[in-house]
Amino acid sequence: MKKSLRVAIAGVGSCSSSLVQVASLARWSTTPLAGIMHERIGGYGMGDVEFVAAFDVDAGKVGLDLSKAILQSPVVADEHVTVETTGVQVEPGPLLDGLRGPLSEVVTVHPDSADLSPDVVRRRLVETGAEVLVCLLPTGSTEAVQAYARAAALAGAAFINATPEPVAHEPELVALFEERGVPLLGDDLRSHLGATTLHTALLELLHTRGLRVVNTYQLNVGGNTDFLNLADPARSAAKQKSKRRALSAAGIDASTVAAGPNGFVPFLGDHKVGFLRIEATSVLDSQLSLEIRMEVEDSPNAAGVLANAIRVAAAARDGGMAGVVDEVCAFLFKSPRRPATEPVGLGRFQEFVAALG
Ligand SMILES: NC(=O)c1ccc[n+]([C@@H]2O[C@H](COP(=O)([O-])OP(=O)(O)OC[C@H]3O[C@@H](n4cnc5c(N)ncnc54)[C@H](O)[C@@H]3O)[C@@H](O)[C@H]2O)c1
Repeated sequence: MKKSLRVAIAGVGSCSSSLVQVASLARWSTTPLAGIMHERIGGYGMGDVEFVAAFDVDAGKVGLDLSKAILQSPVVADEHVTVETTGVQVEPGPLLDGLRGPLSEVVTVHPDSADLSPDVVRRRLVETGAEVLVCLLPTGSTEAVQAYARAAALAGAAFINATPEPVAHEPELVALFEERGVPLLGDDLRSHLGATTLHTALLELLHTRGLRVVNTYQLNVGGNTDFLNLADPARSAAKQKSKRRALSAAGIDASTVAAGPNGFVPFLGDHKVGFLRIEATSVLDSQLSLEIRMEVEDSPNAAGVLANAIRVAAAARDGGMAGVVDEVCAFLFKSPRRPATEPVGLGRFQEFVAALG
């Protein structure tokens, strides 16, 4: 019998837009979807995902049906799929530090959000029977991200931290998830095939051949609100750290590596352009250098990973797992608690999924 998977979203921005579109497409598609690694995980197809609650603080989104809110400016994710009315209205969430910096200039805060208690989120998660809460708040919103994480743990909803703010790296929160018997996945979602994945895969390739990487950089520019937000150094600290962690896992001393985001270019919209350069020495100190320019649609790229993460989180919850699901985090996140190289992370993830049956 077809199961449904009840999902709540915190932050109805561009990544949420692509996620809701993927789930909608999966519902009526009769062929496997491009970019979706597993048709079923733990018995769930992406078409089984049912959105039951959505929180935002933007006065232009709160009160709209989720199908409309995901297209509301400043969202720039392309509309690839027409999403039918969901019956889920975006609700005000607690603002906390959600919109500090440049975002405060492009978003008008809903009046109910300013002083809202995070306990409202816990209550709504319980009322709606949400099994998984996906956190897609802006980077830099440490207080807000951690407040949603706490609400999820207390409500018994598995938590996916797509942001680089510390949740799986915060011992007090990890202990809370363990105590409450609730799974936690994080921190900082990888893109399905983005600059970090490509960069680390290339570095690992050079290492396997014994080459020495001398210099490398990864510069990224884009035009969505994630890039606008990250243009403020006070907001992007966790992202820079997270990108460096991912490079360290690939065996690079990342302390001196420039690893973006590096610029907000409005006309690019949801298109992200990444520039990679690697300089290395090989046999007899011969020189090798390579440069790659990679252009992707940013938000669908996140939705591909979320399609894995949501179903793993639900299956882990069904199986009574508590705390960080380390087996899958090295593959799905840039800042896992236990980092691994790409092949090792992928291997562990695939084993975990296979064991779910
Ligand atoms: N695009 C990718 O491929 C990718 C990959 C990895 C991680 N991420 C991370 O995912 C997160 C979301 O990215 P995005 O591009 O969707 O951002 P976005 O700016 O489009 O969306 C963020 C949303 O959160 C809302 N918000 C702000 N404070 C809030 C609060 N307190 N409660 C509820 N909602 C609040 C904003 O109004 C906005 O709608 C970011 O942290 C980003 O770094 C994205």
